[in-house]
Amino acid sequence: MRLTIVFVLILTVVFAACKHDMVEPGTSSEVVILSSTDSVSFQTQILPLYQSYCGSSGCHSAASAKEGVVTTDYFNIRKGIRSKNLNESEYYTIITSGEMPPKRSAKLSSAQIALIAKWINEGAKNTLYTPNNCNSSNNTYSLGIASILAANCVGCHNTNLASGGIQLHNYNTAFALASGSQTVLLNAINYTAGGGKNMPPAGKLSNCDLQLINQWIANGMPQ
Ligand code: HEC
Repeated sequence: MRLTIVFVLILTVVFAACKHDMVEPGTSSEVVILSSTDSVSFQTQILPLYQSYCGSSGCHSAASAKEGVVTTDYFNIRKGIRSKNLNESEYYTIITSGEMPPKRSAKLSSAQIALIAKWINEGAKNTLYTPNNCNSSNNTYSLGIASILAANCVGCHNTNLASGGIQLHNYNTAFALASGSQTVLLNAINYTAGGGKNMPPAGKLSNCDLQLINQWIANGMPQ
């Protein structure tokens, strides 16, 4: 009996110490397919934010893992998120408190932060929405391309952090790249560049996003 109590005590202490390194009990990494865009799609809307704003090499990539934190996949991101509990979600509050990303790094917009909050409040599941058709009748920079780049690229390609010498944080920089080094850009996003130059490094854009970027370039990159 006494032994059992000691054992439970030890377990409690160990559990408390590891609290922030553990995935919330009951969490499943299984992908949940969404049938509409009413709910947030983790794979296409949230994961790219954590990958590009937090998970660049030297920061919270799998290889660097600063402070033991990795933000490049669902399992590891869930170590800092409590479903339906924003205050207990460390990887959320550290963004809203302004602590992360660090001073000179690109910051997430309030719309992007609100999207993370919505995802947490919806249960923080590994959701995925794949549209059957990409609506591209009005495919301009401001109506579509800007948000694709903001979610997937800007965290590593901005004024302060211009990885590979490339910036993609506004229309002029995106236009310059798409009209100038177009092959470099297309090879990068179509994963035909090789040598660590396939972009984004953590995984290819969705077919729909690729289609929209290709179409935007073909149309002369309308603003
Ligand atoms: C996690 C950080 C990160 C993200 C996110 C990211 N990039 Fe990059 N990008 C880099 C780094 C680092 C390099 C330099 C690679 C090298 O020179 O080997 C680079 C290089 C490039 C290059 C030059 C490739 C070449 O052949 O020289 C292009 C174009 C590019 N990125 C476009 C993008 C686009 C478009 C996105 C979003 C769809 C994106 N990147 C997302 C880090 C990132």
